[in-house]
Amino acid sequence: MKIDLITIFPGILEGPFKESMIKRAIDQGFVDINLIDLRKYTHDLHNKVDDTPYGGGCGMVLKPEPLFEAVEDLKKKSTYDQVRVILLTPQGQVFNQQKACQLAGQSHLVLICGRYEGIDERVRTALVDEEISIGDFVLTGGELAAAIIVEAVVRLLPGFLEEEASTDESFSGSLLEYPHYTRPAVFRGMAVPPVLLSGNHGEIARWRKKQSLRRTYERRPDLLQQADLLPKEKVYLEEIKEEIKEENKEENKKQQSI
Ligand code: ADE
Repeated sequence: MKIDLITIFPGILEGPFKESMIKRAIDQGFVDINLIDLRKYTHDLHNKVDDTPYGGGCGMVLKPEPLFEAVEDLKKKSTYDQVRVILLTPQGQVFNQQKACQLAGQSHLVLICGRYEGIDERVRTALVDEEISIGDFVLTGGELAAAIIVEAVVRLLPGFLEEEASTDESFSGSLLEYPHYTRPAVFRGMAVPPVLLSGNHGEIARWRKKQSLRRTYERRPDLLQQADLLPKEKVYLEEIKEEIKEENKEENKKQQSI
């Protein structure tokens, strides 16, 4: 996969791609990531990438010419038939794991990091295939949003992570992940659930599935609504609801006796 990131601050994006998982993916040839300095596509003495908005108002707007030139150049040089051009903006569709999976299936992504107060509308209408937001908050620019998207996508590239690692984790099956423990078995009086030490793989799998369902039920019930639960999982969920009711009753009793 190839990912080009168009930015006026390439320095912001240098660090995240030089460490850990993404560095490994680059070194192993799973992904080719290029930082494209938008100013290289300007032709004036001051490398001007922005201008004042027509109609007045404060702030500056990213000019269309350098962005069109940059994207057209990247498309021309691409060895792939399909190049998907994505603008990072708080006005886009909110990013999630499903979108990360979709993007991981693409061969060449061009991510445009928006900046300042905005971007000339003709970039949105005639250059961009898709607009993505990483959440309902406003950043000064799209660079950090782009880094997040690259991280989420690259780890899903076929063959890169162990299959199990990416399919077991939170969101991949619409459920949050179960809790993890490592040595020591008792830490400051807090013991690891005995089932995990039992060596009974069937029981461990059942416990993990129930924990996963319980976490999702308690923290993100909205995810459960979209989840396509197996009949067995539906039974677990009913058991969990009963367990929670019992726990609450116990808790109330304790409170009353204090
Ligand atoms: N640029 C500014 N805010 C953003 C956000 N929330 N998501 C993506 N790009 C952005």
